[in-house]
Amino acid sequence: MTVTVVVGGFYGDEGKGKIVAYLSLSDSHSLAVRGGVGPNAGHTVIYENQVLKLRMLPSAVVNKSTRLLIGPGVLVDPTVTLNEATKYNALDRLVIDRSCGIIEQHHINSDRSGFLSSKVGSTGSGTGPANAERVLRTAKLAKDLDLFKDYLDDIPGIINSQIENGNDVLVEGTQGTFLSLYFGNYPFVTSKDVTASAICSDVGLGPKKVDDVIVIFKSYVTRVGEGPFAGEITESEIQKLGWSETGTVTGRTRRAAPFDFNLARRSIMLNSATSIAITKLDILFPSATGMRKYDELSSDAKAFIENIENELHTSVSLIGTGPEVYDTIDRRL
Ligand code: IMP
Ligand code: MG
Repeated sequence: MTVTVVVGGFYGDEGKGKIVAYLSLSDSHSLAVRGGVGPNAGHTVIYENQVLKLRMLPSAVVNKSTRLLIGPGVLVDPTVTLNEATKYNALDRLVIDRSCGIIEQHHINSDRSGFLSSKVGSTGSGTGPANAERVLRTAKLAKDLDLFKDYLDDIPGIINSQIENGNDVLVEGTQGTFLSLYFGNYPFVTSKDVTASAICSDVGLGPKKVDDVIVIFKSYVTRVGEGPFAGEITESEIQKLGWSETGTVTGRTRRAAPFDFNLARRSIMLNSATSIAITKLDILFPSATGMRKYDELSSDAKAFIENIENELHTSVSLIGTGPEVYDTIDRRL
């Protein structure tokens, strides 16, 4: 029985979606639960020639036998949620906690104007204003909406009894450690804490229930939106290195910097990481593309991974070598 929490180690967009999707398939999870802020997340998963763009559903959606839960700490946009669940054939597996806060159009409107839009560079998905209303205790909850009535349940009850019965649980965080309201560069942060502790709280999981905390780092660092960014390189350097990326939710180009050991060390500490997943190794080392065995990597690529392990005193359990879910080296095997 293993409870695994997966979180982003930098500023989001580390490739959590792909890693969670891989784990759901390789470890045959019957249950995955999403924590995190809400539909400001954008997870891209490529599986069996399909490109899935997820903002609300757990990325475990690719495993057709995984139940997809959304914890009470997560804000839910009803339209985005039901559209995704319909599009990806997941309505019969979707379970939303009765106490999820609801994002309404006026939250989206206010997120797309004023301070949040111009100063913070928010995703405009309504999460900040909806969390503000939730704190003021005026927000609607999922149980207030008729269109959700077939999907509602008690997520903390479900996952804790799953654990009591000796089964695994996969917990998916969103955003990244340095977008945390507490641990990031305020005010250039999201509207909640997003470290492993917060993700557990989002879904109703006590601290003693967790076995593995996998912190995901991309092979380089990216950031969308405003805020300080150590080691940031120029747009033309980004292009030369092949690090160009655009945001899943906003379509904005991402800022970039080389792998940052100071940030990574702090992230390991804040999340109490038990292991690390490194994504997009193929972007740094094109010869790694599609590799599934560690031994096949070039000595440069291996040295990059081993340096991370030595510097961070934490083992690298998973390595992404391409966009497809199974373009993954699983060193747990
Ligand atoms: P908000 O979460 O939409 O309020 O945006 C606050 C800051 O967090 C902005 O800089 C966003 O670009 C950033 N952000 C929020 N969610 C994500 C994400 O999933 N990936 C990357 N950046 C994000
Ligand atoms: Mg993203």
